[in-house]
Amino acid sequence: MSIMELVAAAAQAPSSHNTQPWRWIASPDETRIELHADRRQALPVNDPRGRELVISCGAALFALRVAAAHAGTGTVVVPFPSADPDHLATVHLAGTPGDEGALYDALAARHTHHGPFARTSVPPMVLAALRAAAEAEGACLHVMDALQRDSVAGLVAEADRVLWCDRGWRRELARWFRIRRRGDGLPVSIAALVPTRFVVAHLDLGRRLGRADARLVEEAPAVVVLATHEDEPEDWLRAGQALERVLLVAHGAGLSAAFENQPCEASPAMRARLAAVLQGHVPQMVARLGPTAPARPTPRRPVRVSAGRGAPAPR
Ligand SMILES: Cc1cc2nc3c(=O)[nH]c(=O)nc-3n(C[C@H](O)[C@H](O)[C@H](O)COP(=O)(O)O)c2cc1C
Repeated sequence: MSIMELVAAAAQAPSSHNTQPWRWIASPDETRIELHADRRQALPVNDPRGRELVISCGAALFALRVAAAHAGTGTVVVPFPSADPDHLATVHLAGTPGDEGALYDALAARHTHHGPFARTSVPPMVLAALRAAAEAEGACLHVMDALQRDSVAGLVAEADRVLWCDRGWRRELARWFRIRRRGDGLPVSIAALVPTRFVVAHLDLGRRLGRADARLVEEAPAVVVLATHEDEPEDWLRAGQALERVLLVAHGAGLSAAFENQPCEASPAMRARLAAVLQGHVPQMVARLGPTAPARPTPRRPVRVSAGRGAPAPR
């Protein structure tokens, strides 16, 4: 598989608002590839620290590892190998491929779900496999019990109200609705573009959406929180790789994810309240899981790989 094919496979990864905030630089001999944050795709209001940006890049990094392993190539990832904080990782294409290659078919078939799920349950064996997937990448997946789920539903409703009453946040979200078939952003039909942007930018839907989202959380087949031990960029990169591994394993078990990250986004205090539900682990992503019909893919930016002068050697 060529570097371009690896990067195209990595681009199937999920990203916040479908921003696809990654940049790839290959060494001239194509044995190393660097992952950089593309800050032009940042969401300064929704994600002021760039936490979700790095999680998105981590998801793309895991997808690249899957594609390389599928092609029979191992990967050695060196996180944050230089003084540049936007140089998130260097991937050395070498060694024995890991077990990730088995997830290759799910890369393009996985899509984020945005609506309700059928009222069913997720078998404990599947939940155990998802937990193991997160742990394999150094993160933890907390499956919410009934009491924790009530707390999460309440926090999601409250966070919706906080986010939607912020005009800057609404305007930023409105700007990411797009009609393009290629590129970035959240796709809507040509007829829906202007009304969607207008409504999102100008109306505070927080109360209504909060009630609806809380109900979705209460009724979902499973609600999970992906968490890390600390909250540094290294942890976000780990969380992103864990996220993609969990999503691909879930896809293999017939499950899609719908995200309810609002409590992690609305304020540090609300995120701390969610952390208390997890006995102190740091929440990074909140998702409902359930079975869905095949969904339409979202657009992707054209695949680009810059040529680099060479990447630093592993630490
Ligand atoms: C860090 C991160 C945060 C996300 N937050 C949300 C969210 O709050 N709500 C939502 O509906 N989707 C969320 N998503 C999913 C993206 O909208 C989705 O990945 C993107 O639109 C691309 O679509 P796809 O996942 O179907 O390929 C998030 C994804 C990532 C990686």
